[in-house]
Amino acid sequence: MGKIVSLANQKGGVGKTTTSINLAACLAVMGKKVLLVDADPQANATSGLGLDINSVNIYDCIIGDVKVSETIVKSPDIKNLWILPSNINLVGAETELSKMEDGHFRLKNALSEVKDQYDYIFIDCSPSLGFTTVNCLVAADSVLIPVQCEYFALEGLGKLLNTVKTVKAKLNPKLDIEGFVLTMYSRTRLANQVAFEVKEHFGHLTFETIIQRNVRLSEAPSFGKPVLLHDAASVGSVNYINLAKEFVKREKRAKE
Ligand SMILES: Nc1ncnc2c1ncn2[C@@H]1O[C@H](COP(=O)(O)OP(=O)(O)O)[C@@H](O)[C@H]1O
Ligand SMILES: [Mg+2]
Repeated sequence: MGKIVSLANQKGGVGKTTTSINLAACLAVMGKKVLLVDADPQANATSGLGLDINSVNIYDCIIGDVKVSETIVKSPDIKNLWILPSNINLVGAETELSKMEDGHFRLKNALSEVKDQYDYIFIDCSPSLGFTTVNCLVAADSVLIPVQCEYFALEGLGKLLNTVKTVKAKLNPKLDIEGFVLTMYSRTRLANQVAFEVKEHFGHLTFETIIQRNVRLSEAPSFGKPVLLHDAASVGSVNYINLAKEFVKREKRAKE
């Protein structure tokens, strides 16, 4: 049965898309069957994996009646990886969803058709807590929260966690917190302090693997590739392989 994990943080630029692309790619390379859902109108995950942002896309699935199975695209480079592309149209979904009776459940319902065909479905959320992100949380089994090792990193997490709590109480009782992933770490006092505070605050929910700041990670999307295919030996590749291994290990432990 496919597990659906939403990568959310209403703060922009914290590493949601980078983590979505590279965690999905590493798990696919490890032999898992993975679908990456791009739920951000900016479509960075779509273009970052070298796909066309002007094709049928997630908007057509959640607002229109196009099937997800007819919309997903296979990664041109990675076996086992599929993408549900996004497009700037998705901006309009905010108002349209709010007018629909089943507006909170559109993405969940759309994904139910394919859920069982994948080991993991990752949803790259937009930097907002609007209707579309709520759809992502309603569709998900868990939420993975990237936290940038910068000043103000913890600010806003309270609001995000409250939204998760409300969604869990009212719309999706099975929603769990998968964990917090520290991103863009560099060896500075500030980054160490943020890492320390996140670990102190969230304890075992914090992934042990820390994603370091690495230029290969920021270059890779311009080649339409996950970092693993851009520079397999880079720190970024090693970090995301380790994150993928830890992700699977925690999964196993949770099932026992
Ligand atoms: N570990 C990292 N090292 C260097 N650059 C990174 C790293 N993670 C993300 N970036 C860059 O930072 C910017 C924001 O990251 P992104 O994943 O797009 O964040 P979000 O999806 O949360 O807005 C992008 O330009 C991305 O390439
Ligand atoms: Mg993004």
